[in-house]
Amino acid sequence: PRLAVLCSGRGSNLDAILSAISAGTLDAEVVGVFSDKPACTALQHVAPELRWSAKPGDFPNRASFEQAMGDAIAAARPDWIVCAGYMRILGNAFVERFRGRMLNVHPSLLPRHRGLDTHRHALEAGDREHGASIHFVIPELDAGAVIAQVAVPMQATDTPQTLAARVLVQEHLLLPEVLRWAVAGRLHERDSTAILDGHTL
Ligand code: GRF
Repeated sequence: PRLAVLCSGRGSNLDAILSAISAGTLDAEVVGVFSDKPACTALQHVAPELRWSAKPGDFPNRASFEQAMGDAIAAARPDWIVCAGYMRILGNAFVERFRGRMLNVHPSLLPRHRGLDTHRHALEAGDREHGASIHFVIPELDAGAVIAQVAVPMQATDTPQTLAARVLVQEHLLLPEVLRWAVAGRLHERDSTAILDGHTL
């Protein structure tokens, strides 16, 4: 199965995918990494011919940027599209184009703390636990059906940075696990819910 990965930054989740593939625990191939940040580290993790990037500011509007990125993704013929630290909101047309086979890793226990700065928000809210979620991407931000979550207990001494680091470790375990389900054909989105092996999650 073919994976397209969308990234904007460091690319540690992309690395987790690539490591699982190398280790033989994820039967998949990364067929392209797509980015809105041409200088990002994530792109360096794959061979030059697998990289696509462009600056949204070089396009007349977001829709035309996403049309171009979407065409490049479609040309790579992925089975699944993974938003792994892609930090830009995706428009409706792009999301609908890949609906049902696009996943996102989000650093919170959704539906808590959608959007940015989740670790700070969890601390400010006085939450006792935080974590990460993998969900199907729908037009509404971080609101698609949740496939899997992992909880991380909070500590009194936590800062956004210490919390982010502990959550990230769990993201790197959870994302390959969900991708194993996806590439095995076990995972579907139906009527805005996530289905694994025919059962609603
Ligand atoms: C991760 O915490 C991801 O959940 C969030 O942004 C961070 C990206 O990290 N959306 P990386 O680029 O995968 O290292």
